[in-house]
Amino acid sequence: MAISTDATPGAHAAPPSAELRYHSGFGNEVATEALPGALPVGQNSPQRCPYGLYAEQLSGTAFTAPRGANRRTWLYRIRPAAVHLPFRRIDNGRYDGDFGAVATPPNQLRWDPLPLPAAPADFVDGIVTIAGNGDPHMQTGCGIHVYAANRSMTDRYFYSADGEMLIVPHEGRQRFVTELGIVEAEPQEIVVIPRGVRFRVELVDATARGYICENFGAPFRLPEMGPIGSNGLAHPRDFLTPAARYEDRDAKSELVARFMGNLWVAEMDHSPLDVVAWHGNDAPYKYDLRRFNAIGSVSYDHPDPSIFLVLQSQSDTPGVDTIDFAIFPPRILAMEHTFRPPWFHRNVASEFMGLVRGVYDAKAEGFVPGGASLHNCMTAHGPDAPTFEKASRADVSRPDYIRDTMAIMFETRCVIRPTRFALEAPQLQAGYYRCWQDLRRHFDPARR
Ligand SMILES: [Fe+2]
Repeated sequence: MAISTDATPGAHAAPPSAELRYHSGFGNEVATEALPGALPVGQNSPQRCPYGLYAEQLSGTAFTAPRGANRRTWLYRIRPAAVHLPFRRIDNGRYDGDFGAVATPPNQLRWDPLPLPAAPADFVDGIVTIAGNGDPHMQTGCGIHVYAANRSMTDRYFYSADGEMLIVPHEGRQRFVTELGIVEAEPQEIVVIPRGVRFRVELVDATARGYICENFGAPFRLPEMGPIGSNGLAHPRDFLTPAARYEDRDAKSELVARFMGNLWVAEMDHSPLDVVAWHGNDAPYKYDLRRFNAIGSVSYDHPDPSIFLVLQSQSDTPGVDTIDFAIFPPRILAMEHTFRPPWFHRNVASEFMGLVRGVYDAKAEGFVPGGASLHNCMTAHGPDAPTFEKASRADVSRPDYIRDTMAIMFETRCVIRPTRFALEAPQLQAGYYRCWQDLRRHFDPARR
């Protein structure tokens, strides 16, 4: 258990990226302090905390969750999180919590990227819900959103009580300034912010866009490895949790809360990012998807896409996840006498896909970075006609090198229900179904 110290250079003074410090490891018990001696020694809640700080616990799982799944963090802060005026409802904008407003079609669905906002918009303003399932009230399911921002959040902070935020940027570097420290991410990295953790998003570049999976259920964890063994997929050491860093800033501030599918705001007279030290394992983290160790077949066929699982949110049914976060990263396909792209399929699970970079190997065209596709339970899909024709004739005595790509998938147990906005948006590709209409009949009973 390493203890780091990290001095704060001043309120809202953005430290250079090189100064940001992280602890390596997934779900580790971290102890970190921005002032030496700010963490109480030997107990969590002393009668008087060092530096006149308040002690506060943040629990991310039931107190009685098994030790391996238990998440909680002790915060030592300038003011308790409770110091704010009452919340009042504000307009949800396009951050929608109603996933049943329109009938969910069994069609294959695909969207072009949404445009950047015409007016100034920060991360919270720029969240647009595409789809979702389940219910934050029942703590199961997820909201699936895209976001686009052209300005940083200033004296405005956000938390979701509904879910853990898995954020996948595909445009621009972004800095997630959280209660527990600063996480900076660029496209091909992901950031996970636990339920309830307060943060604001600063833009490092002029614009920021990405995908969000708001996980209403159990916190994401690394999957079991089975016969793969102890190495492979996403390695625990590549997950980075920030060192403590605080703002001692008295200024009129807004705290926006996501609660039961609605947005609320409370005023406060200080920055809520005033945690000087903390210890625990319920904390934000980031992961560079380029470090994923892709596993694949070296003989024939290819394994199920579960081989690309980065993180999972487990349900109460063993082996059935509420959400699987999978990626399709650069890799080498070496299987012989095999149709190498993803096969045609219909799954009980539902699949929302995005593209962070490059081209997805099942689709020759029409799926671009920032776009999205949705193939729900039993909705048939697979490679498009050009991809099928090309792969059926390819020389598979040589490996295929799939480079410079990063597709992502939020795969869920329950049907993913698009919002009214998503189904009526001009970015919905009315002609998506055509990509399979040119799949020609090859059947010839006389030719085996
Ligand atoms: Fe699929």
